[in-house]
Amino acid sequence: MSRIKELLATGQPGDAVTVKGWVRTKRELKDFAFLELNDGSSLAGLQAVLTPTVPNYDALIKQVNTGATVSCEGVLVASQGKNQRIELQAKALTLWGEADPTTYPLQKKRHSFEFLRTLGHLRGRTNTLGAVFRVRNACATAIHQFFQARGFLWVHTPIITASDCEGAGEMFGVTSLNLENLPKLANGQVDYSQDFFERPAYLTVSGQLEAEIMAMAFSNVYTFGPTFRAENSNTSRHLAEFWMVEPEMAFCDLEGDMDLAEDFLKFIFRYLLEHCPEDMQFFQDRIDQTVLATADQIIHNEFARVTYTEAVSLLEKSSRTFEFPVAWGLDLQSEHERYLAEDYFQKPVIVTDYPAKIKAFYMRLSEDGQTVRAMDILAPKIGEIIGGSQREERLDILTQRIQAQGLDPQTYWWYLDLRRYGTVPHAGFGLGFERLVQFMTGMDNIRDVIPFPRFPGSAEF
Ligand code: 4AD
Ligand code: MG
Repeated sequence: MSRIKELLATGQPGDAVTVKGWVRTKRELKDFAFLELNDGSSLAGLQAVLTPTVPNYDALIKQVNTGATVSCEGVLVASQGKNQRIELQAKALTLWGEADPTTYPLQKKRHSFEFLRTLGHLRGRTNTLGAVFRVRNACATAIHQFFQARGFLWVHTPIITASDCEGAGEMFGVTSLNLENLPKLANGQVDYSQDFFERPAYLTVSGQLEAEIMAMAFSNVYTFGPTFRAENSNTSRHLAEFWMVEPEMAFCDLEGDMDLAEDFLKFIFRYLLEHCPEDMQFFQDRIDQTVLATADQIIHNEFARVTYTEAVSLLEKSSRTFEFPVAWGLDLQSEHERYLAEDYFQKPVIVTDYPAKIKAFYMRLSEDGQTVRAMDILAPKIGEIIGGSQREERLDILTQRIQAQGLDPQTYWWYLDLRRYGTVPHAGFGLGFERLVQFMTGMDNIRDVIPFPRFPGSAEF
């Protein structure tokens, strides 16, 4: 069996091949028929030409419709068509699965992405979602290549955890208890001793804390896995389940962290242009006419770098009216992030040194006692794409910070132990994988860059 991508690239007239895939379109003429076959390997399909010499031609041509699965055996020939170099002259056609044209939901016309979301089981067969999922695969490959080439260990951090890395209380609970009849203690609280883990457990919001454990033994590590947030994800940038890439480096400060993050994004863009040129051209032509210029700009220019304090003053000085207030001490909202990246700098910008009060407990407190060594990378059209920091490696300050945020140091005993035994300055960041794919493809809604999006009210497919 041959994959269509390879045939389109290197197949030669005269090659005998068998192609297996789904019928995208059928065109019946008087003495022959064209089938456009797609097997998901590439955006472009392979045109098969069927003539009555194909056994059972008359019956097959009635049964084979858009959406049907077939294998087609034949010989490649030079094509007369203007958009294709070769086509497949069929000798035999096998129909694996029919698709009733009166009910098959993917019609030839363009469907809205919203409608396609109701067809999570079929939408991968469309041009756009096909291109998105191939780009997703290429980005994932690039991520591993980048870190493996630099000697980072890929570590697998747990999905089920007892600790809230971000301290934001946005965790989904995991329980084996019967929710309708929870065992209760005398004081009315749930009796977790009867639960599977004998304590409250949650889906992880981030693998960072465990990645830090591993970095304290292997120096440079990264995670790449699903993370979960029970936050309001009714936006085009939030999912309840998303994938995160989290490198963690021992013997590293915030500057090293930012440099790595910038090299990392440049590498992935370069990889994508090299490995998915056809899909990227499709996004440029059909989705967002700035994607190629953006990629080029990322690869060839340095990111802007400003402190949070500078960013706030830029926002205060701007003539733009914002919906949300801007003042030192308040978190930047998506509109502020987008103004900075899209309008002011017109390229990705790294904002550093945020107020300690609005950032997580693990970020390293600066000498001023007010700010932490945090960095967010803000991208045009997306806003925050990466969040990272140098970590607090000093036991006393970390303990105070945990308490100051109303968290229980007891829960983090092992995290504090890492500061007791062989502590070292270290840093890392988290890249939202879907936001990256959105940024690269120009797709408007994050729900269309993950095969099975999870958001309020949606867990069907
Ligand atoms: O900024 P966040 O919350 O940082 C962390 O979780 C750190 N523990 C990472 C680290 O330093 N190792 O999340 C990191 C990134 C964000 O910048 C954003 O791109 C993405 O994860 N993200 C989301 N993506 C989709 N849906 C959501 N609900 C997201 N929340 C965060
Ligand atoms: Mg963040």
